[in-house]
Amino acid sequence: MLDPAIWWYVTRASAIIAWALMVISVTWGILLATRVMKPKDNPGWLLDLHRWLAGLAVVFTGIHMASLYIDEYAAFTFQDLFIPFHSQYQKIAWLGGWPIALGVICTYILIAVQATSLMMKKLPRKYWKAIHYSSYALVLLVSFHAGWSGTDVRAWAYRITALTLITLTTVALIVRILFPKSAKTLSATVEGRRPNQKAENLHKVLVDRVTPLADGILGFDFVLPDRSNLDPWVPGAHVTLHLPGDMKRQYSLCGDPADRSQYSIAVLESPQSRGGSRYVHNNLKSGMSIEVSGPHNHFELEASSEYLFIAGGIGITPIKAMIESLPSRRQWRLLYAGRSRTSMAYTNELEDMFGDRVIVHADDEQGGRPDLDALLAGFNGHVYVCGPEPLLDALISKVPVDRLHYERFSAVDRTDDAVIEAFEVVLSRSNKTISVGKDESLLDALNENGGALISSCGEGVCGTCEVRVLKGQPVHLDSVMSDEDKDAIGVMYPCVSRGTGSTLVLDI
Ligand code: FES
Repeated sequence: MLDPAIWWYVTRASAIIAWALMVISVTWGILLATRVMKPKDNPGWLLDLHRWLAGLAVVFTGIHMASLYIDEYAAFTFQDLFIPFHSQYQKIAWLGGWPIALGVICTYILIAVQATSLMMKKLPRKYWKAIHYSSYALVLLVSFHAGWSGTDVRAWAYRITALTLITLTTVALIVRILFPKSAKTLSATVEGRRPNQKAENLHKVLVDRVTPLADGILGFDFVLPDRSNLDPWVPGAHVTLHLPGDMKRQYSLCGDPADRSQYSIAVLESPQSRGGSRYVHNNLKSGMSIEVSGPHNHFELEASSEYLFIAGGIGITPIKAMIESLPSRRQWRLLYAGRSRTSMAYTNELEDMFGDRVIVHADDEQGGRPDLDALLAGFNGHVYVCGPEPLLDALISKVPVDRLHYERFSAVDRTDDAVIEAFEVVLSRSNKTISVGKDESLLDALNENGGALISSCGEGVCGTCEVRVLKGQPVHLDSVMSDEDKDAIGVMYPCVSRGTGSTLVLDI
């Protein structure tokens, strides 16, 4: 004989479990959004866990409501469960029907958040985001619902559980408020230093292996002389090779980030070489010593349920590290385009590993350029691109800026459309104001005034000279990332970017 109180037990247990799952899911989502665990986290499994917890919260909320309906003691009607303030249960003199009404409202918020997450790919990101943010209100309102309508509030176990969940909610919301920006901002904030104060992080490394990868492309593996661990990195990162004649060249890391024993890069000997790739090809031999700085990263993989990767030629290097780092269940496709298979590195390796997720487009086989419109049709996930300028320009015109992430091979001259004029900057740490002449770079002006900023390419591609902007609107003339991304995280690259007539305040 079934205990007649069984449904009441189910109601109470499922309510606490659903509450806990909501709080943990939101907390996990906050870790995902702020990346405070960076660089130890992995966006793939973090995102999966966040979704599973939220899905389970919906399931347990459903069990909670179903058992309330079945239980004869609580005697909830269908209307009580779905219409706020309809239930007469647990009315409190000074609150009226709010305790149960909050539960009904929370159910609708939970359904809205979960439904829009499932339809994320079909919704404009700003709408999805606005609804997703209501989950912060959800965890707060659920706490009030539990506190006012729960019948176990006098039990110690319940109180301890409730206190833990409320504390977790509060800490999570504080973290979200304090660290609202993306990982790029956080990396500097958490480490307590402004971006350009990163040590240049120069290592002497040995060339461990040189491997021909394709026509004109050599792979290089670098190790520390004592073969100890190198600095960690995440896909999208690059290192700077310090070559004779004060040449500094940036190359994306394309190995396995989990293998800390070596850095792997692939270098195309470019016909337009200014000397860097030619030197690397002709002079770097196994056993040689070379100086390397970094890794730095301005092309990080953001968490997404679906990706489209597009690589043109040697642009495969950061993309290869990205796709190899994703969990096997993550949805993605790669278009890898080049002139001919013999000039494209890693084609066989990628096709063997990932099968038909990888579309290799060799111009000499397919006769012409890939059909980007067909590839993008119906795709609403994030697009990551690394390749030559025409490919990037085509995608910039086709993909909304909030879903497009790219890395350029070389600087784009953006001065034609910009007003270049003298301006002033305030260095916030010393409260010093300096004037930057019309023909002078901001980087030079800063360094002449004690800025001691590190830099590398000097042409707005590598991102090494990054400084934080506290106030004012810079004129972005660099090619590091989209201007929207730079403004969102409040940075600029003073080797080429400048100020306008109004004063810029920099975190220096
Ligand atoms: S030094 Fe490379 S972006 Fe400024």
